[in-house]
Amino acid sequence: NDQELLRGKKVLVTAGGTVERIDPVRYLTNDSSGKMGFAIAEAAHLMGADVTLVMGKTSAMPPEGIRTVKVESTQQMLDAVVARLREMDVVVKAAAVADYRPVEQAEQKIKKKEEAMILQLVKNPDILQTIGSMKTSQFIIGFAAETENIDEYALDKLKRKNCDLLVANDVTQEGAGFGTDTNVVRIYDGSGLVEALPVMTKREVARQLLILTVQRMKKGERAN
Ligand code: C5P
Repeated sequence: NDQELLRGKKVLVTAGGTVERIDPVRYLTNDSSGKMGFAIAEAAHLMGADVTLVMGKTSAMPPEGIRTVKVESTQQMLDAVVARLREMDVVVKAAAVADYRPVEQAEQKIKKKEEAMILQLVKNPDILQTIGSMKTSQFIIGFAAETENIDEYALDKLKRKNCDLLVANDVTQEGAGFGTDTNVVRIYDGSGLVEALPVMTKREVARQLLILTVQRMKKGERAN
């Protein structure tokens, strides 16, 4: 019975894209519907978990009846996740995080004067890697969108970021990736490929992923 699988567990899911302000009316962001993260939050909720959804900018609407924390920048998302990390059993990082932010955020709208302008960027902290290095008993799931060498990049990412499972999608495949209601994913743990799932709805991917998570938490297994 699915309804009991995550009873008593606290699950935090991040979804959507982070937004990095250039000035009060302009920003940098990543394309993200939020659908994969929303599907995971909803599936965890249906399995009885106490779910917190930390969300950036999304084009889809979040599921109803789930506690949401809205954030804008990567730093705000990091703070929101770190503040709740200790009490969580599972953290799923499905957000599309902006890798860079403007060095300066102008307080007033930048006037167009020059023919060319340079926007200087600085690297953002990696949220997944930060919590991976802080984790005590949390089960951490990362995501990766790849266009080539999917197995190699996915495993490298899992190890570098100290995740328990990593979900990779080949965004060049039909039915995978941004905006769609379906996805094609490969799931890895520290010893390699665990599942190569065929094209299925994000809702079904979410359920499969959480079932794997529950099995692993039961065994007390850790990938790293
Ligand atoms: O390195 P890459 O961006 O491909 O890694 C993807 C995974 O890392 C996703 O789970 C994403 O949410 C997370 N990430 C993060 N903070 C960043 C960049 C990525 O948490 N600054």
